[in-house]
Amino acid sequence: MADVTVRVFRGDSKAGGPVDYKVPLSEGMVVLDAVHSIQAHQAPDLAVRWNCKAAKCGSCSAEVNGKPRLMCKTRMDSLPLDQPVTVYPMKSFPLIRDLVTDVSWNYEVNRKIPPFQPRHGVEWKMDQRDVDRVQEFRKCIECFLCQNVCHVLREHDKKGQFGGPRFFVRTAGLEMHPLDGVNRAGLLREQLGIGFCNITKCCTEVCPEEIHITDNAIIPLKERVVDQFYDPITMIVRKISGAK
Ligand code: SF4
Ligand code: SF4
Ligand code: FES
Repeated sequence: MADVTVRVFRGDSKAGGPVDYKVPLSEGMVVLDAVHSIQAHQAPDLAVRWNCKAAKCGSCSAEVNGKPRLMCKTRMDSLPLDQPVTVYPMKSFPLIRDLVTDVSWNYEVNRKIPPFQPRHGVEWKMDQRDVDRVQEFRKCIECFLCQNVCHVLREHDKKGQFGGPRFFVRTAGLEMHPLDGVNRAGLLREQLGIGFCNITKCCTEVCPEEIHITDNAIIPLKERVVDQFYDPITMIVRKISGAK
């Protein structure tokens, strides 16, 4: 089979730019295979993060031809091969080197979310419909492609005020758990800044697990925040009771 040009970002936060490599195509090749071929035969110092090569660990996120994707899930024959295939690191996170970014901010956000706590005296019984609803959110592989594409983080860099779609998915899985007894509406409004999300659905479009992030997680969570903080009757009750 023919060679293809793969244009890979090389460098670190101080300096860097694209470098072209000719890679021999093979049947069923994915972008991660091409990167591994470069590493094996032309640039052994090329930094790339990966683990499973099965679209399940969420490690190999990158921007292929300008779109956030898992490299191991992107077949070369799905891309136009008469022009260079570009492979860049995720733009929304600090670059460490080549294709590897520092995603540790995400783990800091994660720590703000109170874990599952059963309601006092709850009966440990769940309806299958409730199991199905939260199961979708448990499919997340933490690839952070949704975080990478969200304009609130990507263009406006509001990491101090906004949690991002991945953590709305996690919060939705807890809030919609029928046995959970914690109220996370205040956290969503204040610390996770759900009000910054204007429902563009870009996050949903890039999710490799096809989680309906906007429709099934973000919109119901926004409704909870509105019910709790902006519903006129609830506001009066809160004022009388002195609750925040
Ligand atoms: S829908 Fe909201 S969270 Fe998702 S990308 Fe758009 S602004 Fe970000
Ligand atoms: S919600 Fe989807 S895109 Fe976002 S981190 Fe999880 S798997 Fe990745
Ligand atoms: S290597 Fe695990 S998701 Fe791509």
